[in-house]
Amino acid sequence: MATYIVLLGSPGAGKGTQADILIEKTGLVHVSSGDLFREHIKNKTELGQLADSYMSKGELVPDDVTIAMVRKRISNPDCEHGAVLDGFPRTLVQAETIKITLNEMGEDISVVPYITAPDEILIARLSGRCTCRASGHVFHKLYSPPAKEGICDIDGSELYQRDDDTVETAKKRLHVYAEKTLPLINYYRKQDKLVEIQGDQPIEKVTEDLLAALNIKV
Ligand code: AP5
Repeated sequence: MATYIVLLGSPGAGKGTQADILIEKTGLVHVSSGDLFREHIKNKTELGQLADSYMSKGELVPDDVTIAMVRKRISNPDCEHGAVLDGFPRTLVQAETIKITLNEMGEDISVVPYITAPDEILIARLSGRCTCRASGHVFHKLYSPPAKEGICDIDGSELYQRDDDTVETAKKRLHVYAEKTLPLINYYRKQDKLVEIQGDQPIEKVTEDLLAALNIKV
């Protein structure tokens, strides 16, 4: 049976940061809906154009195209042992649909770590984040700066600030999260899959708690 981990949490909670660490420890594949959309934007595809019109305003991309994109990604052979889903699902429709898709494959979501942090911390994180252009690795100007300013420690590519990482768009994303994604907490709690992780701790401590919750030995 494959392992599908859904990382749930507000924008800036640390899902991408922890997903990168988790895939190293587990060998699972990182499937980030935000990264997939950014790849489409970079390649100037039709989907990228559509996604950009929502992402730049801090709104969610419509369910139908998002679900189709993620379904296609997880049907790739590299996901045969499972995946760390980051930023997906984000609505009840997405959660229900991915459950049906996985059940049809004889699989299910294994566990849902829910990373929490107060809004003022999230806004400071998002507005100070710098992202690697080649692979989406994330750093923070103050909390986890790269060794060389503007350069990714991991692959040496340029670091940039995402268009949606302004204070104004971050606030909008938190509002959309509260409205559309918060209901998923009860949805997964009722299925006994939710594990709460305190995200306003140093990155290493969040990882330690996450690995302990997932019963992964380092
Ligand atoms: P997406 O790319 O998924 O963004 P998000 O959910 O808003 O999440 P972020 O990437 O902003 O935050 P994160 O939790 O990964 O934090 P990170 O680890 O980077 O989505 C972008 C847009 O795409 C959406 O607004 C929407 O339009 C669209 N979209 C995507 N998926 C969709 C879906 N399923 N349905 C519809 N639309 C969708 O950390 C943030 C910063 O904090 C970094 O600088 C990091 O270094 C720092 N940091 C992390 N942890 C710590 C810590 N413990 N202490 C100090 N600093 C920390």
